[in-house]
Amino acid sequence: MSSPIACHLPRVTIVGAGRVGSTLAQRVAEKNLADVVLLDIVEGMPQGLALDLLEARAIELHNRQIVGTNNYADTAGSEIVVITAGLPRKPGMSRDDLLRTNAQIVVEAAKNAIAHSPNAIFIVVTNPLDVMTYLAWQATGLPRNRIMGMAGVLDSARFETFIALELGVLPADVKAMVLGSHGDLMVPLSRYATVNGVPITELLDEATIDRLVERTRNGGAEIVELMQTGGAFFAPASATSVMVESILLNQSRLLPIATYLQGEYGLEDVVIGVPCRLGCGGIESILELNLSDSESKALHTSAQSVRKNIERSQEILAVK
Ligand code: NAI
Ligand code: 2OP
Repeated sequence: MSSPIACHLPRVTIVGAGRVGSTLAQRVAEKNLADVVLLDIVEGMPQGLALDLLEARAIELHNRQIVGTNNYADTAGSEIVVITAGLPRKPGMSRDDLLRTNAQIVVEAAKNAIAHSPNAIFIVVTNPLDVMTYLAWQATGLPRNRIMGMAGVLDSARFETFIALELGVLPADVKAMVLGSHGDLMVPLSRYATVNGVPITELLDEATIDRLVERTRNGGAEIVELMQTGGAFFAPASATSVMVESILLNQSRLLPIATYLQGEYGLEDVVIGVPCRLGCGGIESILELNLSDSESKALHTSAQSVRKNIERSQEILAVK
């Protein structure tokens, strides 16, 4: 009898089994993309979520394994590690408080995860996104193509949604790209937004476009204000699953991704969202668009604010 064939299905580890992490686990498993390991510091919680997701398999018609754990040893050999661990900003919490808490969580998560999955590609989701991605890049020592942050896919999806709502068209027919940092200084590129190839500048007046851009910049805050008890998680999980899919299926999609820049767009030693091709090796290339003066200025302003927070994070981690 011949020896059994060794089967290895791709494995995605999600660190942080909160709202974004658990919803992402559902998306990845139900899209049949990979087996999932869901890790959290809270005992029993990731195990319970994993069991709940497993019990839906017969109904959702997939056969992906989903494991919940508090132990990094169970994440070994993952192809992708997504870090969603950390606090969302709560009422009364300053950005500095959030930076302090999440910096320590993300550095610890990144170090533990890379120790068990040295060949993995990392996607950071925890906020403040651009700074946390920088810290995870430092902590893992990975080449920049294998560590990135998710924000632009979500921000672009929000911009596309608001354009579609305004025009009453199918959301899938709208394409837009949002660059820059994840926050009020993001850079939605209205000039490149289209409805099936028709620029939105042909369909909407300037004041309306400005209003949609402003709503996109406040997209996260608008949801926090409505929910009061936390932030968005359905669309963030969908956006992250698009990146996971592009890597696992080697789709080479052109997506806005927070990446470490080494001179591109005139920016150095900073993480910020720019258009990247994403495939099985991670970031395959960075596309340098011909930005207008005002777009370029907005991107640089956005990068400056990230850089300031990176410096602050280095002080915080140095005196830990
Ligand atoms: P959540 O509070 O529901 O979940 C966070 C989870 O992290 C909790 O289950 C907590 O126990 C866990 N955790 C804390 N410390 C940990 C550690 N050391 N190791 C492992 N797990 C740990 O929060 P939610 O809503 O899931 O958001 C997660 C993060 O993602 C937040 O920082 C939020 O601001 C960010 N976010 C980023 C987005 C983006 O576009 N980049 C979009 C949405 C959320
Ligand atoms: C969001 O954009 C707060 O990053 C979170 O929904």
